[in-house]
Amino acid sequence: SCCIPSFAQKPVYNELEFNVGPYELPTLFKKEPANKEEMRNTWEKKRRAYLLKLFKDNMYGQFPRKPKTMRIELQHSNPQALQGKATSKQVRCYFSKADSSVYMDVIIYIPNHLAQPAPVFMGLNFKGNHTIHNDPDIIISKRNKDLLLLNKDNGKTDPNLRGTQAERWELEHAMAKGYAVATAYYGDLELDHAEGWKQSLRSKISKELGLKPQDWAALSVWAWGLSRIVDYLETEDRIDASRILVTGHSRLGKAAIWAGANDTRIAAVISNNSGEGGAALSRRWFGETIHRINTSFPHWFVEKYKFYNNRPYLLPFDQHMLLALVAPRPLYVASATEDLWADPLGEFLSAQLTEPIYNSYGLRGLQGVSFPAPDTPVGHVVHYHRRTGKHNILLYDWQQYIAFADQYVIAKPEG
Ligand code: GCU
Repeated sequence: SCCIPSFAQKPVYNELEFNVGPYELPTLFKKEPANKEEMRNTWEKKRRAYLLKLFKDNMYGQFPRKPKTMRIELQHSNPQALQGKATSKQVRCYFSKADSSVYMDVIIYIPNHLAQPAPVFMGLNFKGNHTIHNDPDIIISKRNKDLLLLNKDNGKTDPNLRGTQAERWELEHAMAKGYAVATAYYGDLELDHAEGWKQSLRSKISKELGLKPQDWAALSVWAWGLSRIVDYLETEDRIDASRILVTGHSRLGKAAIWAGANDTRIAAVISNNSGEGGAALSRRWFGETIHRINTSFPHWFVEKYKFYNNRPYLLPFDQHMLLALVAPRPLYVASATEDLWADPLGEFLSAQLTEPIYNSYGLRGLQGVSFPAPDTPVGHVVHYHRRTGKHNILLYDWQQYIAFADQYVIAKPEG
């Protein structure tokens, strides 16, 4: 038709603003609610659940319940970890009574100086728990070795190197600020390659959960794992389970948002450089595209999502609607200046477009804010920043998330 841009002719990857062209986003509501009260009502009673279902059916796949036979076993604890500043605990979550190979190892550090239960940052890690710090107590992930042996790690894993991802976790900083940190290796849930599902819990316990393996996809499996970490955190006396923040970088940021959208026990969502399939608008043809992500990572989304490769305009939603599913809980979206692949402007616009939903709860997000200069956090209950530098999660990012958590998750003020 006259108004539908011909995406088929567009490059599968674009870093020129000029090439974006016009696009029209679906609206948050089919029929604009008459006032804030009606909006909030419609959102809570109908629209939210409907959108969640659309995202499941067309993109991420199902998000099953907790397995009835899940059990948690303590493997190791150290009350004097990190030079006495923290207590560390390592637990193994078994998801199936019948198959003891289906498990996820969770490690948690809880600051020792707090008189009350700790708020907690929870997120998956890329390379194994032992890479988040050089703490010699951390059990080395066997799954990580599997990936190496399969030669499917693209040179990214080294099971022998402790602490290689420490700059992405900043444990000491979080402890000093009074936050616990909980993480698990995402490969425990599903190894990140096209055939990973065959050995993962997707093939082993889908049936127990009433699904077929192809009813969900890797991002949903990872997000579901985050919900299982929440199950564990709810059993920890020294954790304040009403203050669980989910965080994630890049593909794990996509999983973090999806977990937050599904699991409302999660108190706040932080998306670090999540980009395409995460915070960034899909119709805005900039950086990575649906076509490109489905080609490089065919296992991340359900088969049906491939239908939208060159037809993003046919999607019944766009990613601002995913972010809106986080409302009214605090939401932080962050980009990096050199990370054009993740489309910083598309991430900002998407976060800003959640505003009507937050407003209907009497809250303010990114209203009236323009795309900020580098290293300038903006917003209220919805926050955004664009760190100078590359695709990564660094101390600067953590500092902003912790300040945000202090203000909106701990103090919980209005607006
Ligand atoms: C690739 C992928 C992105 C993803 C990123 C990451 O670049 O295209 O979608 O976010 O990897 O996880 O680091």
